[in-house]
Amino acid sequence: MTLPRKIKKLREYLANYSSTPRNKNEKKLFENEQVQKTETTFTKMAGGDIPEFSNEFWTSRQRQASSLHEVSYRACFKPQLPRFFIQLLTNEEDTVYDPFSGRGTTAIEAALSGRRIIANDVNPLSEIFTRPRLSIPSLNDIHSRLERIKFDPEAQADIDLSMFYDPGTESEIVSLKNYISARESTKKLDVLDMWIRMVATNRLTGHSSGFFSVYTLPPNQAASPKNQEKINAKRKQKPQYRDIKSRILKKSQQLMAGVSRSEKINLSKANETAVFLTENAGTIPAIKTGTVNLTVTSPPFLNIVNYAADNWLRCWFNGYRAEEINKKITSPDSLKKWIDVMNGVFSELYRITRPGGWVAFEVGEVKKGKIKLDKHVVPLGLETGFKCAGVLINKQEFTKTSNIWGIKNNTSGTNTNRIVVFYKS
Ligand SMILES: C[S@@+](CC[C@H](N)C(=O)[O-])C[C@H]1O[C@@H](n2cnc3c(N)ncnc32)[C@H](O)[C@@H]1O
Repeated sequence: MTLPRKIKKLREYLANYSSTPRNKNEKKLFENEQVQKTETTFTKMAGGDIPEFSNEFWTSRQRQASSLHEVSYRACFKPQLPRFFIQLLTNEEDTVYDPFSGRGTTAIEAALSGRRIIANDVNPLSEIFTRPRLSIPSLNDIHSRLERIKFDPEAQADIDLSMFYDPGTESEIVSLKNYISARESTKKLDVLDMWIRMVATNRLTGHSSGFFSVYTLPPNQAASPKNQEKINAKRKQKPQYRDIKSRILKKSQQLMAGVSRSEKINLSKANETAVFLTENAGTIPAIKTGTVNLTVTSPPFLNIVNYAADNWLRCWFNGYRAEEINKKITSPDSLKKWIDVMNGVFSELYRITRPGGWVAFEVGEVKKGKIKLDKHVVPLGLETGFKCAGVLINKQEFTKTSNIWGIKNNTSGTNTNRIVVFYKS
């Protein structure tokens, strides 16, 4: 069987990654960098030899991600991952899609570089986090809007949040929640309100003084009230008053700090045609057949992450019922069930991908590498009609300081992403 020319070119590029900058920009990207040689091996899968390309593909230059991505979400991937494929496989104004969009890493990265975007996730928080970053307001406008929102010092939550917030902070959060809900029901919610809602949702809980809550888990995982009481007892801590307006402003400033003028223009252009959906990734009738140039995505990996438990407080703030969302989230307890769901996802991806289009499907390493989901994904894609360009394995050394539970420790290791790349001829 002869391989399409585009697959041959991509394989060559990945195999010779260190030595073949394709243009001036890439030369610049790689100068002063020690780019290692790609290790290429072949594995027999689904009756063919599938190449695996292993290297540190997101080099240190590429590691500078836009500050605009700094919205925390469980199991999100680094912006460098979608960027690599967007730059390599699409042109400006092409359409880039993510069926499991999460905090919108693919969508934001694609919009920053002038692509059109479609973002889908059964969790409606996904749109709440992504859409506002397409039209960045000015700090002055955010400040004036915050000043106009009236806080009722008597406002109280309908659930006990005393383990997270001092009563003064709680009244401010509840006042903001009520304001947003009223603006939404009277159809007055505008870009400023949406921006403020996104930032506030992100600042609800966390482990530094920039968050509204007392010290707790990192912001992408909300502790349950019971666990928070335990954390408070262990750390002998009590929530102190934290003014929410200044924290919203500070985070807004951080988010927009690194966005250039041309990126802002790209974002607002992408906003004009952006599509946000909250469907099951296996059935997306709203996306027309043959319209997507590139999908970059990472699906839920079996039942490892409990998105509902991690997001219960964010859901409360936005008036969603976490248990209802949870029912729609794919969280299979066996590999067989996971494969069944992904089978449907691949059929849909094949339908909506343009001939000449691509899918980069990130599967990570589940159970410390014991389950290699890519081995299961390759046959799924092939069965639906895609051609497999190979598996890209990105290995990145890291040293990180974790400070959870008050213990500081430096850990180092390797972050590995495994991405199966498919092509539709
Ligand atoms: C691994 S996360 C994706 C994170 C994303 N790449 C990012 O950077 O934020 C998987 C996402 O899939 C969503 N999800 C789970 N089951 C789904 C389904 N059946 N259809 C659509 N989205 C689903 C979850 O809500 C979660 O946001």
